Amino acid sequence: MAVVGPGVIGTTVAAALHEAGRTPHLYGRRAREHLELRVEERRILVPGPVQTDPAQAKEPVDLVFLAVKATQIEAASPWLAALCSPQTVVYVLQNGVEQRAMPAPYIAGGQVIPSVVWFPAEAKPDGSVRLRRDARLTLPDTSGSRLVLEALRATRCAVELATDFTSVAWRKLLQNAVAGLIVLTRRRSGMYGRTDLADREAGRALEWDIRNGIVQRRGQAHGIPTPISDVVVPLIAAASDGPG
Ligand SMILES: NC(=O)c1ccc[n+]([C@@H]2O[C@H](COP(=O)([O-])OP(=O)(O)OC[C@H]3O[C@@H](n4cnc5c(N)ncnc54)[C@H](OP(=O)(O)O)[C@@H]3O)[C@@H](O)[C@H]2O)c1
Repeated sequence: MAVVGPGVIGTTVAAALHEAGRTPHLYGRRAREHLELRVEERRILVPGPVQTDPAQAKEPVDLVFLAVKATQIEAASPWLAALCSPQTVVYVLQNGVEQRAMPAPYIAGGQVIPSVVWFPAEAKPDGSVRLRRDARLTLPDTSGSRLVLEALRATRCAVELATDFTSVAWRKLLQNAVAGLIVLTRRRSGMYGRTDLADREAGRALEWDIRNGIVQRRGQAHGIPTPISDVVVPLIAAASDGPG
């Protein structure tokens, strides 16, 4: 098993796998000796190293946990090329409703499984990750999901299968779309916006297209007016990496 993109979500899943004796290989952008997840007072160390050169990925694996941001898939595609065979399942841990389509061009025939990530986690200044609530994932009820279910069986990361995954994913997307307003106003509000605000404050690219642009794009495709998105999308795009 491999985790590509051992950031906040990738570290949480890697720690869950490691605690269950299924330590994954770690592939990322920054070299590190280990990952650290903090859960309340507990610290879980996931042994590395985090490898940073796709040439270090010697052979395809059965299961890839893809946890880079949606804006980073293309840059991470050499990992997918190195790690995927037609039998590989790529499990995408990202927000949005385009998780199957976005990595597909970079995967040689493998199966892509989307998910809804329900837990909030955050990066700490010392490089560790703090899990702020119980980890929970929803997957579509398909044959490929069984491999993910088995990998995460009896771990701190609960997995549920949804027969109507599309509706679940859109419900989460609509929650995330509201976070666009929080990013624009730079004001936190309850459960929303920590990660997005942190990204904006650090000058990192925002996942505005998969969270807000998608509402406008799908609205246009289906002839449904999206007046709020028509205002929010250009503003949030300008606050990120340009008008898109
Ligand atoms: N954070 C949350 O609470 C939360 C909750 C629900 C859903 N999500 C979603 O989960 C997804 C992942 O978010 P996140 O918060 O985990 O992001 P993140 O902390 O930024 O993690 C992304 C990781 O990918 C690495 N990366 C970037 N480019 C790469 C490349 N070319 N090759 C290999 N690794 C690369 C990053 O490296 P660096 O360390 O060098 O940046 C980072 O470690 C997003 O779609 C997000 O919206 C997040």
